[in-house]
Amino acid sequence: MHRRTPLATLACLSMLGLAACGGGDADPAAYPEDDITLVVPFAAGGPTDTVTRLIAEPMAEELGAEIIVQNVEGAGGTVAAGQVADADGDGYEVLIHHIGMSTAPGLYPDLAYDPLEDFKTVGLVTDVPMTIVARKDFEPETLEELATYVEENADTVTLANAGVGAASQLCGLLIEQQLGVDLTEVPYDGTGPALTDLVGGQVDFMCDQTTNTAAQIQSGDIKAYAVTTPEPIEALPELPTTADAGWSDVEVGVWHGLYVPSDTPDEIVEKLTAALEVALQDQNVIDSMADLGTTPVPADQVTPEAHTSKLQEQIDLWTPIIEESGVTGG
Ligand code: MLT
Repeated sequence: MHRRTPLATLACLSMLGLAACGGGDADPAAYPEDDITLVVPFAAGGPTDTVTRLIAEPMAEELGAEIIVQNVEGAGGTVAAGQVADADGDGYEVLIHHIGMSTAPGLYPDLAYDPLEDFKTVGLVTDVPMTIVARKDFEPETLEELATYVEENADTVTLANAGVGAASQLCGLLIEQQLGVDLTEVPYDGTGPALTDLVGGQVDFMCDQTTNTAAQIQSGDIKAYAVTTPEPIEALPELPTTADAGWSDVEVGVWHGLYVPSDTPDEIVEKLTAALEVALQDQNVIDSMADLGTTPVPADQVTPEAHTSKLQEQIDLWTPIIEESGVTGG
């Protein structure tokens, strides 16, 4: 893993001063002394960006520092994760990522980072349900009709996602396996832009998080068939579960967590964890998440230990499924 050489750090320090040069030399006790960049691995306006901007404001207030949200798209979220893995462990570059952190090792044989070794976990954030949605004039009216239509038109149906490594791609893979088809996938830099095309009718259907689709489902701008949770969700009570339609293997929750580079001092991680805890207890965050079909994780999961345990369990779950599918990101 490339890191700034000592000579380069010395040169930077002599010219720009400690805060601008980052590095583990930052004083954990005084942290934060500068703006914090919160890196989002997908395009602005999508579900990950939405969750990020909800928690950024109360976290910034608690930390007493500006939090700048930076969207770094590409390769299903792995470009952003690689950037943060390679950043200085000074607490000024933080990654938010979701289930894609656990699917990347199976999808990218030459992944530039190890999700468990190259990061410290800060805490879990929220576990977002997914919805199977389509352009509003798509012919199928129910999940059962969707199954029949897709099986009969597999060579023409288009399935949008946010690239190999995205939650939408994982859910799409589960749908293709459920139906025994190999569809034309249309990748975007995030499901924000994908949803724009779905509303515009440029693509047929996709699986995406309620934090992106709930409003368009409720307004009727897109058609919805099911949620991928074991039980129906309060924000979209009319939607059956995938299991109701016999798609029991298409069950996935998009869990999110915060990460920092592995050499970040524990004292800085603790401050970030504490700020995340406060943010997830903020009533505006709770209410906004509820409107978007999700909730903050329980307080006992807003810890590095719970987060690491979730990440390990999910890597162990998805890696064999993905390797069996033969899908790779390159
Ligand atoms: C996004 O924020 O665009 C989504 O999380 C992409 C995805 O993982 O499907």
